[in-house]
Amino acid sequence: QATYLKDYLPPAYRVTHTELKFDLAPSATTVTARLHVERHPEREAGLPLRFAGDKLSLVRIAVDGQELQADEYEVDDEGLTIASVPERFLLDTEVSIDPAANTALEGLYVSSGMFCTQCEPEGFRRITFYPDRPDVMATFSTTVIGDKTEAPVLLSNGNPVESGELPNGRHFVTWEDPHPKPSYLFALVAGKLEKVEDRFTTMSGRDVTLQIWVEPENLDKTDHAMASLKRAMQWDEETYGREYDLDRFMIVAVNDFNMGAMENKGLNIFNSVAVLTHPQTATDAAFQRVEGIVAHEYFHNWSGNRVTCRDWFQLSLKEGFTVFRDQTFSADTNSAPVKRIEDVSFFRTAQFAEDAGPTAHPVRPDHYIEISNFYTLTIYEKGAEIVRMLRHLLGWETFRQGSDLYFARFDGQAVTIEDFVDCMAEVSGLDLSQFMRWYSQAGTPEIDAHGEYDYAKCEYHLRLSQRTPPTPGQAEKLPLHIPVRMGLVGTKSGRDLSLTLNGEALGHETVLHLRDSEQTYVFTDIDEAPTPSLLRGFSAPVYLRYPYSREELSFLLTHDADDFNRWDAGQRLTMLALDDLIAAHRNGVEKVMDSRVIDAYRRLLTTETDDKAVLAEMLTLPSEAYIAEQQPMVDVDAIHAARVFVKQSLATALRDEFLAIHEAHRSDAPYAPEPEQIARRRVKNVALEYLMSIEDDEGVSLAEAQVDAEDNMTDVRAALTMLVHSSRSDIAEPALKAFGEKWAHDPLVMNQWFTIQVTRPQADVLERVKYLMAHPLFSLKNPNKVRALIGAFAAQNRINFHRLDGEGYRLLADVVIELNSLNPEIAARIITPLTRWQRFDEQRQALMKAELERIRAEELSPNVFEMVEQALAEA
Ligand code: ARG
Ligand code: ZN
Repeated sequence: QATYLKDYLPPAYRVTHTELKFDLAPSATTVTARLHVERHPEREAGLPLRFAGDKLSLVRIAVDGQELQADEYEVDDEGLTIASVPERFLLDTEVSIDPAANTALEGLYVSSGMFCTQCEPEGFRRITFYPDRPDVMATFSTTVIGDKTEAPVLLSNGNPVESGELPNGRHFVTWEDPHPKPSYLFALVAGKLEKVEDRFTTMSGRDVTLQIWVEPENLDKTDHAMASLKRAMQWDEETYGREYDLDRFMIVAVNDFNMGAMENKGLNIFNSVAVLTHPQTATDAAFQRVEGIVAHEYFHNWSGNRVTCRDWFQLSLKEGFTVFRDQTFSADTNSAPVKRIEDVSFFRTAQFAEDAGPTAHPVRPDHYIEISNFYTLTIYEKGAEIVRMLRHLLGWETFRQGSDLYFARFDGQAVTIEDFVDCMAEVSGLDLSQFMRWYSQAGTPEIDAHGEYDYAKCEYHLRLSQRTPPTPGQAEKLPLHIPVRMGLVGTKSGRDLSLTLNGEALGHETVLHLRDSEQTYVFTDIDEAPTPSLLRGFSAPVYLRYPYSREELSFLLTHDADDFNRWDAGQRLTMLALDDLIAAHRNGVEKVMDSRVIDAYRRLLTTETDDKAVLAEMLTLPSEAYIAEQQPMVDVDAIHAARVFVKQSLATALRDEFLAIHEAHRSDAPYAPEPEQIARRRVKNVALEYLMSIEDDEGVSLAEAQVDAEDNMTDVRAALTMLVHSSRSDIAEPALKAFGEKWAHDPLVMNQWFTIQVTRPQADVLERVKYLMAHPLFSLKNPNKVRALIGAFAAQNRINFHRLDGEGYRLLADVVIELNSLNPEIAARIITPLTRWQRFDEQRQALMKAELERIRAEELSPNVFEMVEQALAEA
């Protein structure tokens, strides 16, 4: 039941205009469709018509007004077939659907009493019979009929053109969307919603109404999303020349949503956690996430909607480009180096793990069983890294010309990744054929670098070799075209040296184009011994090995001109110390802290710096998940113990420095989610975390005071987490209880309350997880709650999830089995930690595989089936 890229064919029939009428009722909604259908000009005449349809009960069907007889059509589990149709005709259908029973949250469903939709990638087929594929683009006219009290607000894509009263307390609104779109961009929302409204004038003077629709109690949580939207609209005009194209732009917040948000034309639907913020209920990180997601969905209006994907294999065409756009927007709006550090440390933790595991796939996969499983870090973030490499290979100006050409040439079309890259090749004159391998080869390329300085000749020889390890279904890999941004830092001067390569002067920094499996670069006129600073800004999504000594890393940590690489040098230095400690723990040898790490931290803590945001990143230890990705075999207990040891050693050695930094970064300014303040709070809370790691009395009282005194969630959550994660239940439990009582009415805050508890390191946490699953505020039907409780436990509480009695695995498997029938998409996501069994010791491998086998024995959705099959393929 797999679908293959090589089998692509245009559809036999396409729809040019779609008229829909929804008569809404929670358990029996009637959908009436009139489709203007014609044969696709590239397909032969006389083919049968096949439209997708899932869980629809067909009431009526007619072709050009003639009711079809039972023998003229056939409906099966996956759709509708009509053996013979005219070249061009009207198809009328009426179906009945049950939104209240739709726990998969695909198609039309009910969330907290309101109707809403999620159609990407294949949800529209749960609404009506349709060629539910992105290369069929039609204009839509949608009439929504609902109860006046239950659903006073009736929304769909485009502009409202008509509305009125109907008998029996009902009313209707008709919406028209003039822009042809694929069915996955269709949206409908109906319910008791209220709005916040604003305006934006586009660069050509079009006046756009901006609306954010929420449940009444959330009206005070929309300011930040609205401000972010306006910034994003302006940024896209200034940076990409992209202007909005309808009279209104709407955002709706819904409580039950599988993903973050959805870019439906003119009517973006958001998971409430991705749009609602208030200083008292959302952390700085949440504010920044909201800004990024609002921008992401808005940017899709061009990169995704005006120009869309030919088929779902091209998903990264819109997602990779749009993630790159939102990352750049956030970098421009906040601290650019910190944004890069955050994105890369996440990437190297989570995407590297995906690329190294059994579900590794290329950025453009060549087959899938369930496309919903492919909304992955590889498609999104690695796709964005590829676009970023193009931007660096071409330079911004030329990249922008390529982007302009792409939008102009393909506006209104459904296209492929080649179409995008061809535009970049055309404007730059570059041959990007080797570069295209980035889209077809899975796995993280590894670069080995070696440098040698020749004093006599004043030459520096840099040898780079590349290799991509095998991944499932791809044993052999070809060399990639890899941009390596680099500089040589003079060991005496501490400055970037002038680079001359093959007689050409390149300035202080250059981008090497590594294309062969091995290449050597000879830099001439290098008159002092240098330390190489390689892959600056993470110029390619690769794993870079260079045999740096700890002295060299300490040197780069102070002198590298590139902020990102300065941070990276610190991470590498700490990793070397962690490696020793992990080995010591495994061998039962006493742990000794590397004094060079302490010295490096002391310098960081005592040197004045303007960039507090970068400082906070530099002070942050790599996470357990990140450390695990750097180890050949994951020893969860040793990693945990080593990391705790580093933290406590630093806190003990630098107690006064941490106290001073904490004090220096307090502030009484009223809360604002702006970069300077965010950086201050980060530094302050990182310092407090060190102090709390040794349960320093002063640290404890500072944390307790912070929970009580602060009225912003960033400070409160940070301090509460430290108290709850401490070994002192006398301070943990009262704080937890008080917080839970204060916020019982706010589901998004209570989700944070769940997460704080299930990420505790204490050994009894698994019982706590089970207890909280029975909490009245928990529900497996709400994806945010599943993520906050189960997802956080499995992904963030590594020592307890990987308990040697296998109870952590068993709990996750039980949840997967239950979710498999309720919400297959979420079930297939939450299972991920179990699929990574290859990385662990034999005992854990056996336990994890046993749980996967237990899941496999169930009647499975395609989503979970595909994940389990991949995970057990090599077993
Ligand atoms: N296109 C949406 C976003 O990036 C994600 C929708 C994913 N939907 C899904 N069912 N997996 O912004
Ligand atoms: Zn997206």
